[in-house]
Amino acid sequence: MNYIGSKKSLLEFIEKSIAKVVSEKDYKFSDLFAGTWIVWRYFKEKWHSVIANDLQYYSFVINKNYIENHKPLEFKGLFDIIEKLKDTEILKRKDLVLNFLDSLKGKKGFIYKNYSVWWTKWQEHERMYFSDENAMKCDAIRTQIEDWKKSESINENEYYFLLASLLENIDKVANTASVYWAFLKKLKKSAQVLMNLKPADFFLNDHEHTVYNSDINELIKNTSHDVVYLDPPYNERQYSANYHVLETIAKYDNPEIRWKTWMRDYSMQKSLYCRKTEVKNSFRELIQNIDAKYVFLSYNCEGLMSFDDIKEVMSERWEYWVFTKEYRRFKADKTEARNHKKDSVTEYLHYVVIK
Ligand SMILES: C[S@@+](CC[C@H](N)C(=O)[O-])C[C@H]1O[C@@H](n2cnc3c(N)ncnc32)[C@H](O)[C@@H]1O
Repeated sequence: MNYIGSKKSLLEFIEKSIAKVVSEKDYKFSDLFAGTWIVWRYFKEKWHSVIANDLQYYSFVINKNYIENHKPLEFKGLFDIIEKLKDTEILKRKDLVLNFLDSLKGKKGFIYKNYSVWWTKWQEHERMYFSDENAMKCDAIRTQIEDWKKSESINENEYYFLLASLLENIDKVANTASVYWAFLKKLKKSAQVLMNLKPADFFLNDHEHTVYNSDINELIKNTSHDVVYLDPPYNERQYSANYHVLETIAKYDNPEIRWKTWMRDYSMQKSLYCRKTEVKNSFRELIQNIDAKYVFLSYNCEGLMSFDDIKEVMSERWEYWVFTKEYRRFKADKTEARNHKKDSVTEYLHYVVIK
């Protein structure tokens, strides 16, 4: 998934920098603005256990699958529904279940009725986020997953695996420049391709991991950590607005939608880290309340908080330092391209060792 603020190209820098500071081997790694699975996935293999958190529900779903799932899925409750499933070896069962979902007849549900080309044809306003076929396929699969959950035919681990697979694959055929702030006026080539439900494969291992779906400032008051990694939004673009369609597919709660791009109401999911006037106070409250040994913060030179603000706030907890790297900017869409003329940016990894 193309994700605003993704640290994909900075993983080595982040890992090497953290390794210079943290020598303990059995520590937990907490990625508390987790977004997609990029950072903690990299660390899941190297650290004893991982805690992930994000305000957005689609992110929670993806993280629930990739982090909390660490054993093969049995799909025992679907033995009577999907032919041959019972006699299939355990590691291959997920492919059979995805094939079953992939071949369902399309359904005219919420996504089709609100975000497809069909809507655009008959209504005054356009909402061309998906081809009709992909919108109907999404509705059929999403409804089936929910029905299986309600009838207890699948357990929680199976539910999040199926939902994460749907979210990742529907995103590949979305008719957007990258984010869901706006759709394109014509169906682009990749949006014309019929979605293929590929598995959101997770790693098998013996460790237990934990995922939360909270505002970080609330979560931090009730949890303790070893190494905390923070990667907050760095500008005013709210993730809830930019990924609203994924949020709706994940929740599938028939929301009222409005505004020019037909978004769900996201007033309860607005992040204070995206507000120039609020961000420093919020950050200070967070840092003051953290119960951990080490705190690392990724932030770049163009963020809402200045370098000096960050240094001031983090130094209040004890020994502060920073690593620096120049890197090529990821431009999620035209807005990013317009706002940022420079191709490179300075990325900082601030840290504090807490006494
Ligand atoms: C820069 S992105 C993280 C990117 C991630 N590290 C990656 O590489 O994919 C910031 C994330 O913080 C989340 N977020 C924003 N405000 C939050 C808050 N108050 N509490 C928890 N998560 C928040 C957003 O939903 C978004 O997913």
